[in-house]
Amino acid sequence: MGTYSNIPLRERNIVLIGFMGVGKTTIGQLVAKKLYRDFIDVDQEIEKRHHMSIPAIFEQMGENYFRKVERELIVDLCTNTRLKIISLGGGAYLQEEVRNACLSHGIVVFLDLSWENWKDRLPSIVHDRPLLKNKALEEIKQLFELRKQAYSQHHYRVATDGLDPETVAIRTIELIRERNTN
Ligand code: S3P
Repeated sequence: MGTYSNIPLRERNIVLIGFMGVGKTTIGQLVAKKLYRDFIDVDQEIEKRHHMSIPAIFEQMGENYFRKVERELIVDLCTNTRLKIISLGGGAYLQEEVRNACLSHGIVVFLDLSWENWKDRLPSIVHDRPLLKNKALEEIKQLFELRKQAYSQHHYRVATDGLDPETVAIRTIELIRERNTN
């Protein structure tokens, strides 16, 4: 998949993708620490720049506005930075421009948690995820399945069922090292 950039592999940003609540932020922070790199969580960066929470941005400015800000920030980070660990919001990668930028300039890792395991996490994440609020479990499952199509465009996939964040972080690093040194 797209590696058209002239950024050397070992300097490329590592971009974590996957559905809401799979642990992109926690795992990203661990990977960053282990690799002595800076960590950027796109949602946190947007919240910082706006002095508003993501739910407040959705409510007051609308989802379209959020998607535009998210897209511009990610394309900018992918194009103009290196050596970072970046975790994306779960919906960001549905935008083609975001996928292209991440795949061409970065190393994209899909954190893949099964629906069976994911649904147990729902009660703990629903309160600050506007897209999950007031949705039936069946609707959320449809969203989960639909998004897999976008997430299937990645460089590496780590199956995270039953693994703690530390183990997922180690596997992520090992996987990237293994393939990049061969
Ligand atoms: C979203 C995921 C959230 C956040 C926003 C929208 C989505 O990020 O960007 O609530 O559309 O999946 P997380 O994946 O970190 O929950």
